Amino acid sequence: MTSRTKTTGSLLPGDRNKNKHFLHPKSGTTWLSEILDAIYHDGNLEKCQRDAIYNRVPFLEMKIPGILSGVEQLEKTPSPRLVKTHLPVHLLPASFQEKDCKVIYMARNAKDVVVSYYYFYQMAKIHPDPGTLSEFLQAFMDGKVAYGSWYKHVKGWWEKRHEKRLLYLFYEDMKKDPWGEVQKILQFLDKEVADEMVARILHHTSFKEMKKNPTSNYETMPTTLMDHSLSPFMRKGMCGDWANHFTVAQNECFDRHYQQHMAGSDLCFQMEA
Ligand code: A3P
Repeated sequence: MTSRTKTTGSLLPGDRNKNKHFLHPKSGTTWLSEILDAIYHDGNLEKCQRDAIYNRVPFLEMKIPGILSGVEQLEKTPSPRLVKTHLPVHLLPASFQEKDCKVIYMARNAKDVVVSYYYFYQMAKIHPDPGTLSEFLQAFMDGKVAYGSWYKHVKGWWEKRHEKRLLYLFYEDMKKDPWGEVQKILQFLDKEVADEMVARILHHTSFKEMKKNPTSNYETMPTTLMDHSLSPFMRKGMCGDWANHFTVAQNECFDRHYQQHMAGSDLCFQMEA
C-alpha cells in the first residue's frame, strides 16, 4: 500500500479538529487506525466492520492507477474523518497546522521495522523485489526505501513531540501496555470512554483478532496488489522478531550504523522482546 511520498497542496475543507496519524511504514499504522476507528465509533464494533480498514481510514498519499486515490477517498468521507499518512515531518503541508489537526505519530524500533518492511516488499506488489535481506538492510540503512530514511523520519517527528496537537507513541509501549497507551490516546483526543468499552476495543484490536478479521488484515486487497501467500500482512506483530533474521555480522554492522545516525538524540527504542 505504500507509495513514494507525495505532498498534497492543502488539506481538504472541513478538516479542523480532524485526526491524522503519521508513522513510518511497518510501525503499527493499521493497528492504530483500527484503534482510532473504534474510538471514533464509540466502541461500536459492528460499525468498525463496515468496510476494509484502508477505506475506513483513507491513506492520504496513496495513488494507484485504477483505484480511488487517498485524496479522492477523503473527499467522499464525511467529517470527522481519520487520515493515515506516512509523510515525514518536513513534508507536512502547512495546512495541517492551520486547520488545527491533531496528529498521532507511532514509532517502532528500526530492526523490527526493517524485517517487517522486507516481508512487505515481497508481498505488496507496488514495491520492487527487495532482493536478499542483506541487500535490503543496506538499502534501509542508506535510506533507499519507500519514504526514505527511517532515522530522519523518527527523529524529525520526535523534535516536534512537545507540540500541543501531537502525540508521539511507540509500538513497543502499545504491545507492553495497550491499556495505558489507549488512555493516553483518549486523553489526547478529549474522549471519555468507559473501561468496559476500552476492554472491548483492546480485544477487537489485538493482533489475534485483527489477523482473522478480513476488514483489518488486508486480505480483501486484490492479489495483484498484495499477495498474502508470499507473506501475510498481519505477519507476527511482535517486538524483537529481528533476532530471528539478523546474522551476528548483520547485527553488528546495523548497530554501528545506528549509533552513528542516532548520535546526539535522546530518542530510545526497546529492541528486545
Ligand atoms: P510485522 O510484520 O512485524 O508482523 P503497518 O500497519 O504500519 O504497515 O505495520 C504493520 C506491522 O504492524 C506488521 O508487523 C503487523 O503484523 C503489525 N501489526 C498490525 N496490527 C497489529 C496488532 N494489533 N498488534 C501488534 N502488531 C500489529
